[in-house]
Amino acid sequence: MTDTPTPPGQGPAPRAPRRGLDRTGPFELGDKVQLSDARGRLHTITLKPGGEFHSHRGVLRHDDLIGHDDGSTVTDSNGTRYQALRPLYADYMLSMPRGAAIIYPKDSAQILMWADIFPGARVLEAGVGSGGLTTALLRAVGPDGSVHSIERREDFAQVARENIETYFGAPHPAWRLSIGDFQDVALEESADGPVADRVVLDMLAPWECVDAAAQALVSGGVLLTYVATVTQLSRTAEALRASGLFTEPSAWESFVRPWHLEGLAVRPEHRMNAHTGFLLTSRRVARGTEPLQRTTRPAPGSRDAEELNHPENDGFGGSDSTWSPEQLGERGVAPRKIKRALRDIRQGRDR
Ligand SMILES: C[S@@+](CC[C@H](N)C(=O)[O-])C[C@H]1O[C@@H](n2cnc3c(N)ncnc32)[C@H](O)[C@@H]1O
Repeated sequence: MTDTPTPPGQGPAPRAPRRGLDRTGPFELGDKVQLSDARGRLHTITLKPGGEFHSHRGVLRHDDLIGHDDGSTVTDSNGTRYQALRPLYADYMLSMPRGAAIIYPKDSAQILMWADIFPGARVLEAGVGSGGLTTALLRAVGPDGSVHSIERREDFAQVARENIETYFGAPHPAWRLSIGDFQDVALEESADGPVADRVVLDMLAPWECVDAAAQALVSGGVLLTYVATVTQLSRTAEALRASGLFTEPSAWESFVRPWHLEGLAVRPEHRMNAHTGFLLTSRRVARGTEPLQRTTRPAPGSRDAEELNHPENDGFGGSDSTWSPEQLGERGVAPRKIKRALRDIRQGRDR
């Protein structure tokens, strides 16, 4: 069966050529291609006129890939065979140069579902870090939505901007990036009324952002926070409850256990990522309404004020609101690492 050509002037308008990684079809100049050899070793190249990929085994000409279908097997000058595939979102994320730690694809997948990121949604996000989650959000909101990312560090924002432009092949029209604190930018943006259907926070202290998120979110809008430690999770949940502006929060974490598939040895892999982070969601209650209080009785002692405010429990429910990144397990990012990430992104584009 062949496609019937559409008469001129009828049918959908021709689509602008798509760049970046979100596309299918035969390989073209400028495409990123992931080459894997028989041992599963990966190399990512960008197709250039007259370009060559050199390994210790031989030379593969980029011209031998251009015009070939995604998924083709190609052979270099020495007879070594490679499977050539356009990288997927998850491939790109896992090899992307970073400043700040990224949200891993397994958690981005959960965030898109449970923050209910829909096509056309207006999403407010902080911090942008290396742009990992932002890329997933931009793909999900589509051309009719928007993602406004807020990042307090200019150097991280630059890494994110370059990673996102490399992924999409150009600046993304639905993306806006502001440098500053979420608390300030979100409050300023929403001074005249709510501006976001969804708020997604991946940062050390989301509990400090509850009022700003409540002002920015539409009634019924979803707030999702991603944190690495139980202390952050607890503090965020308590701040949401204390605000009286959000529904009872739900929290969870997810584990992905990869499996080994070889002959009769079909079993879980010996190693897995045991911990990434906790997710928490809550919804903005309608303006002028109070959240419905939970009526189930908490376990004995679980909300005991004396226990929560005990000096040795500093950081859980006590009045002391000070914290430091080190207390929350964050290691600093050396300027050297940012420079290296930017160099790797730029070299990746040129390679
Ligand atoms: C773990 S990183 C985010 C990673 C990002 N989600 C990704 O997938 O690449 C946390 C970021 O939040 C930023 N940050 C922390 N507190 C912030 C705040 N109050 N407002 C804006 N950005 C903040 C930090 O500078 C850092 O870049």
